[in-house]
Amino acid sequence: MKLIFATHNAHKVEELNQLLPDSIALLSLTDIGCNQEIKETGTTLEENAKIKADFIRQKYGLDCFADDSGLEIEALSGAPGVYSARYAGDQKNNEANIKKVWGELMGVKNTKAWFRTVFHVHFENKEYILKGQVEGSIIFEKRGNGGFGYDPIFVPKGYDKTFAELGKEVKNKIGHRALATQSLLKILSTQ
Ligand code: IMP
Repeated sequence: MKLIFATHNAHKVEELNQLLPDSIALLSLTDIGCNQEIKETGTTLEENAKIKADFIRQKYGLDCFADDSGLEIEALSGAPGVYSARYAGDQKNNEANIKKVWGELMGVKNTKAWFRTVFHVHFENKEYILKGQVEGSIIFEKRGNGGFGYDPIFVPKGYDKTFAELGKEVKNKIGHRALATQSLLKILSTQ
């Protein structure tokens, strides 16, 4: 079965490919020759996931899904949230985003945060909204070389290392996209 994952992010495609059985071929936007950047004009993760999935469904008529994910920090009322990629500006710079988080949290004791993802799925003429969330806390130094984005400053609950230190094995079990992917697998396997 072929399924389009409406993203250009190679990290995410690789992450999800490891979670799906070989019988499901995950194709990225680059794989299907769609080089367009779909504008994420929504104000929630749910809206952005729908915008991207609907665009591909309408343009190509193929089964597909899109995700939108973000880091939500309790003491910042859920920021950076839907704006995680461009928190410090449109250049989407991870380093600058992390520095901005540290700046906003200066003097704040509550470092509780979570990654949240929403999948919007078009599959066999039905639509599904799937969610995944992993809780943890923010630290004030960068640790580890794995992962991407905010991984070096996020310590998942129950661990004493960051996602960037823990690497794929742990992230593939408890990560926000891994949890949403488990729900996706259930949908795909019931057909
Ligand atoms: P996206 O819109 O789903 O690509 O995610 C938006 C932004 O959220 C990314 O550019 C990252 O900054 C952040 N993000 C999402 N998922 C992760 C993750 O698994 N680790 C670290 N940062 C993430």
